[in-house]
Amino acid sequence: AARKRSNSVPDDPMQALQTELGACRRCPLHLPATQTVCGEGPVEAEMMFVGEQPGDQEDLAGRPFIGPAGKVFDEALLMAGIARKGVYVTNAVKHFKYEPRGKRRIHQKPNMGEIQHCRWWLDREIALVKPKIIVAMGATAFFALTGEKKAMGEVRGMPIPIEAGRMLFVTVHPAYLLRIPEPQRRAEELERFHADIGSLARLS
Ligand code: URA
Repeated sequence: AARKRSNSVPDDPMQALQTELGACRRCPLHLPATQTVCGEGPVEAEMMFVGEQPGDQEDLAGRPFIGPAGKVFDEALLMAGIARKGVYVTNAVKHFKYEPRGKRRIHQKPNMGEIQHCRWWLDREIALVKPKIIVAMGATAFFALTGEKKAMGEVRGMPIPIEAGRMLFVTVHPAYLLRIPEPQRRAEELERFHADIGSLARLS
């Protein structure tokens, strides 16, 4: 069943942000979505992971990265010895954008305008959590964080110094790995993803 967040206004700044986010009507993406999917994790987290946007299961559950891509992500964290509970996990865009097709809801990529518009919330999350390391998973997150469009191969796997003494680290999006049809290439790319996340454990 869909999990809705409380509407009362709490003093806790993280809860207050989530309440505000939960009521977001800043763009039309909220209309067909079940609910806002806020970031989650401790306010004192040193590492923030940014994905693209919630998928079908995330939209229903109201939590980021709990569907198939979330399983790939969780496994990479586990292998790296990074506790998911200790990191902040969010998305560039906070509502699920999709096209209905029969009973299915087909994921649609958010466009540049939608990503830029939702940056308002990502900025608020960064200002609140003040992570030392921000991990952009995929080109959408990278664009949201830097305003630049880059091929992953150009920026992946090396820490990039950004504002406020933070590091930006770029890797691929876990859903990309699920879409690779050839088992051999998928296994290789998965291994590279695990290596990227593993190197984060050594950075922090
Ligand atoms: N893909 C994302 O980018 N984010 C999620 O939360 C789930 C899938």
